[in-house]
Amino acid sequence: MDGASHEANLQEQVDILKQQLAQAQKLTALGELVSTTTHEFNNILMTIINYAKLGLRHRDNATREKAFDKILAASNRAAKITNGVLGIARNRSDEREPVDLVQLLDDTLVLLEREMNKYRIRIDKRFEPVPPALVNGNQIQQVLLNLLINARQAMPNGGRLALKLSPSADDGMIELVVRDYGSGIPADKLPRIFDPFFSTKKGPDASGKGGTGLGLSMCRDIIESHHGRIRVDSSPGKGTAFTLKLPAAPQSAPIAPPISAPAISNTQTPVTG
Ligand SMILES: Nc1ncnc2c1ncn2[C@@H]1O[C@H](COP(=O)(O)OP(=O)(O)O)[C@@H](O)[C@H]1O
Ligand SMILES: [Mg+2]
Repeated sequence: MDGASHEANLQEQVDILKQQLAQAQKLTALGELVSTTTHEFNNILMTIINYAKLGLRHRDNATREKAFDKILAASNRAAKITNGVLGIARNRSDEREPVDLVQLLDDTLVLLEREMNKYRIRIDKRFEPVPPALVNGNQIQQVLLNLLINARQAMPNGGRLALKLSPSADDGMIELVVRDYGSGIPADKLPRIFDPFFSTKKGPDASGKGGTGLGLSMCRDIIESHHGRIRVDSSPGKGTAFTLKLPAAPQSAPIAPPISAPAISNTQTPVTG
């Protein structure tokens, strides 16, 4: 084989491997999403079952009303989660449109609410007013899920998770910081964390997440395809901050509806709680 065709052959193999990596990243993300929603749903079902039992046991109106309220609130939360997942599953395009990052963060946190409570993670939001970002909301949500789950896993005994949103004046980008106060990353590991399959975890944890080493490689690929930046700052024992820079949408562009726009027709007034 001459040099040129050998090179072409290698390039072909690299392309195939890249496609396989992208596929593995997607499957991992899907697996973690299924695991997240199953756990969240199970919790909601427990609430519904327990309050239904309470309502059956007690015949007085006050208790029954309370039971119905709780059941309705839990069901509405279930509907929100379903909508979130359907939004993720439906939106497979690569299209970029102006996305409200506050809404996107909130939609993402809905999916992790129970998990964060369970591990006693307190979410601290510092959102400055920012213009909409010109991104693929679905893909950026995937990045957020990965970063939030990593942050949670870095704080096995609970702690604070700070989310910051601010305009970055110098370059017209929007800055989003996910900071945890957990284990931190040793200096010798730091250069490798974005490598595909690099993981310090033994395997998926009790909630079925982590251990593949594909999360951050996916984050990097997605952010790079957006011509954004992803940066990490970490001090062992103190915590880690991931900073994303995302392009802001041109001033006049209309904002896209949230990707979790209701898929289930629900004529009731949602009870939030
Ligand atoms: N917030 C964080 N705190 C501490 N270590 C982290 C954090 N995020 C990522 N890491 C390190 O980077 C590695 C790679 O992360 P990732 O690509 O998401 O793979 P995985 O979570 O499956 O291990 C992790 O195994 C961990 O060692
Ligand atoms: Mg991970």
